[in-house]
Amino acid sequence: MPELQQLRADHAPAVLAFELANRAYFAASISDRGDDFFDEFGDRFSASLAEQDAGIDAYYVLVAEDGSVLGRFNLYSIQDGTANLGYRVAQHVAGRGVATATVRELCRLAATRHGVRTLRAATSDANTASAKVLAKAGFIAVGPAEPADLGGKQGTWYQRGLSAG
Ligand SMILES: CC(C)(COP(=O)(O)OP(=O)(O)OC[C@H]1O[C@@H](n2cnc3c(N)ncnc32)[C@H](O)[C@@H]1OP(=O)(O)O)[C@@H](O)C(=O)NCCC(=O)NCCS
Repeated sequence: MPELQQLRADHAPAVLAFELANRAYFAASISDRGDDFFDEFGDRFSASLAEQDAGIDAYYVLVAEDGSVLGRFNLYSIQDGTANLGYRVAQHVAGRGVATATVRELCRLAATRHGVRTLRAATSDANTASAKVLAKAGFIAVGPAEPADLGGKQGTWYQRGLSAG
């Protein structure tokens, strides 16, 4: 069974392999990370772990039995009981409910481990799959998102209230 694990230093090679293998797939619906992300992967990965240690962000990877990464599910800007959610799932497991199930799981962890009471996510209106994931995980649309935050695309903020119980 794939397992949702909080990001650790030893995940770095599998995360890089995941980002490289799915780069073109992701770029079809969200902004490409850019060449710098791959050129400076080691430094950026270390910086992410430092942000996580500081409690600013919390990064999770869905790890298959063979150690490969099937998806990334992240909480950003955790502050005063709120956080922003981001996620991406490998093309070779797309359309099997992986994102929906894992976003639901991360909602539970966000509340119990990270004290999040309100989780927000922005997605472009063209990203039908992402909007479906959010709706199925209990998020509701709360207003327009700035195109500047979505690679110039029109989009929507979604929100879900969480309880630790
Ligand atoms: C969005 C994403 C995470 C969905 O992952 P997934 O594991 O394939 O999603 P699920 O299998 O849980 O599917 C959720 C719904 O979206 C639908 N869906 C999946 N891919 C789709 C596509 N390309 N077009 C339209 N609908 C799609 C599924 O059929 C399902 O709807 P249903 O239950 O009515 O059948 C994945 O496509 C991805 O990583 N995309 C690139 C990154 C991205 O867009 N991240 C979100 C940024 S806000």
